[in-house]
Amino acid sequence: MSRIAGLRDRLGIAYGGDYNPEQWPDEVHEEDLRLMKEAGVSLVSVGIFSWASVEPRPGEYDFGWLDRVMDRLAGGGVAACLATMTASPPPWLTTRHPEMITVRADGSAISPGGRQHYCPSSPVYRSHAVRLAERIATRYADHPALAIWHVNNEYGNVIPCHCDVSAAAFRRWLADRYGSVEGLNDAWSTRFWAQGYSAFEEVLPPRSPAPFANPAHALDYARFTSDELLACYLAEKEVLTRVTPDVPVTTNFPPSLRPVDQWAWAPHVDVIGYDAYPDPLDADAVPKVAFSYDVMRSLRGGQPWLLMEQAPGAVNWRRRNAAKPRGAMRLWSWQAVAHGADAVMFFQWRQSRGGAEKFHSAMVPHGGPSTRIFGEVRELGRELAASRFLAGARAPRADVAMVLDWPSWWALEGQARPSAEVRFLDAAWSCHRPLYDAGVACDVVRPDADLSGYRLVVVPNLYLTSEEAGRGLTRYVEEGGTLVMSFFSGIVDPYDRVHLGGYPAPFRRMLGLAVEEFHPLAEDASVGLSLGSGTLWSEEVRLEGAEAVERFTTGALAGEPAVTRHRFGRGEAWYLATRPDPAAMRVLFDRVREAAGVGPVLPGLPDGVQARARETEEGRCYIVLNHGAAAVDVPLPTPMREELAGAGPAASVRLEPSGVAVLRPG
Ligand code: GAL
Repeated sequence: MSRIAGLRDRLGIAYGGDYNPEQWPDEVHEEDLRLMKEAGVSLVSVGIFSWASVEPRPGEYDFGWLDRVMDRLAGGGVAACLATMTASPPPWLTTRHPEMITVRADGSAISPGGRQHYCPSSPVYRSHAVRLAERIATRYADHPALAIWHVNNEYGNVIPCHCDVSAAAFRRWLADRYGSVEGLNDAWSTRFWAQGYSAFEEVLPPRSPAPFANPAHALDYARFTSDELLACYLAEKEVLTRVTPDVPVTTNFPPSLRPVDQWAWAPHVDVIGYDAYPDPLDADAVPKVAFSYDVMRSLRGGQPWLLMEQAPGAVNWRRRNAAKPRGAMRLWSWQAVAHGADAVMFFQWRQSRGGAEKFHSAMVPHGGPSTRIFGEVRELGRELAASRFLAGARAPRADVAMVLDWPSWWALEGQARPSAEVRFLDAAWSCHRPLYDAGVACDVVRPDADLSGYRLVVVPNLYLTSEEAGRGLTRYVEEGGTLVMSFFSGIVDPYDRVHLGGYPAPFRRMLGLAVEEFHPLAEDASVGLSLGSGTLWSEEVRLEGAEAVERFTTGALAGEPAVTRHRFGRGEAWYLATRPDPAAMRVLFDRVREAAGVGPVLPGLPDGVQARARETEEGRCYIVLNHGAAAVDVPLPTPMREELAGAGPAASVRLEPSGVAVLRPG
């Protein structure tokens, strides 16, 4: 049995949260177990920030309290996602080795007293972290509570380190990548501004160069940082798999998605873990997080993933931290399951009494088990426990794929661009949203993926494109695929050097056009389109075989193409020379996908209702979510049973506002 199958058989859809028992006395632990059972908790992430509690002094370990916690969990039938505890080095370590503390780009060091203040390249940090991971692994290898390892916490959700140790590691990384300093000079275009290096020893981290960093230098530093963090993860993982070869290993990817190249990490993470914190004050929170969930499901080719953290109510780290509206915690949890999650977990189990996160909601709030939140937690636990049949079920492969590439993302958001307002996530959301609103499922792929099975490929702002990825996307269209690409794609190579031959050189043939000049728009300005308006960006397009589907109706480019279509080979390539407003995007995307033969997961879904499918052993199940404010009737293609209410086969299902239906073949 694979490591993951074992986990699934043991836990079903896992339910629980971060468990920080070191913050509480023993008698509270007893109550914890009682309440966990009451809430149907099956898995808790134990001790993520417990380094100082298990190693209070150098080399001196205190596992007594953790032994008792683990024994209690095992006794209560709750499994442990046991942390390696390496995310927050204790004060004794940073006092002895201040050189392992993160140094910001401006040269100032982070002050210990928060968390995650380690330099990932520091041999001191790494050796202490690996030593601790090994201690924990050997101590709990055979413990019955142990189900899965949780390495560190949110790698990359830190300030990148720019210290001297990092500088030396960066030089080694560069020497590996480029072989010679001439190779580096060429890749970084260092003849510009007299930056030519005569030896690797002269290269520094891009600390705060003025007026701008060399963009290739900055981009490589982002790659290097992701690789260094991955090396930390791998060093711990190596210990864990050596000691416990049958126990799966995961880490939780941070909510922002951006910091590490998750395509590079995913093969090393046995099951993907993700922390999601949609903002209740953001009207678009639900469709935005849907995109993140599609990324997570796609990272390991559709393998179910774990929602490792979310808030039961409010967080405490935004400027304004709103509670989740009644019913949203349940609805949004089911949304993750609909997108392929095999776990619904929270930060955290019991709300802290002191410390920086005491105003962050928890499954057991300050007010105790009689609170509304705990009531909802209990209810959700019951529903998930009854939904075991979904565990391990993959989503059917979507007809649509969206291209995502981390180095392109980082490079796009570098300094000295035509517009600092062009952000990758906004581009991805703007293209994902019309699919989401139309009830269409979407996978996420790397730019060099095999695209042959997809009817439609969407390419938001693929600013950086390798020759190979350019050829792959072109071949996809040539062989009959439909592709939509948004502006400012195919501009530079992997070293942030412009692809010569007219923008976007790698895609010109496929798109049947050339871009002459960029005209980013002023803040809050827009340009007219016959479908509505274009926002953020416009550019001067010269048609070379493509037809203009939309033209700018106002502004400097009035009369020029704004949206184009080009029949190329057996397929069709669309190009957006602006960001059409959401309504216009919807019209365009509906048109493109209908022509490509892409339909929704379930036909006839009312507005505000989302449906996603998972393939269980007994057939295709649907999870249907009413994000709208009115009750709706949702027609079903064949009569199905509704699991949560225990309703027999019916041809439609009624959903109250915030309602959820889990439908099984009748
Ligand atoms: C996450 C982090 C948790 C907790 C949570 C609060 O980013 O992993 O430890 O701080 O945020 O929302």
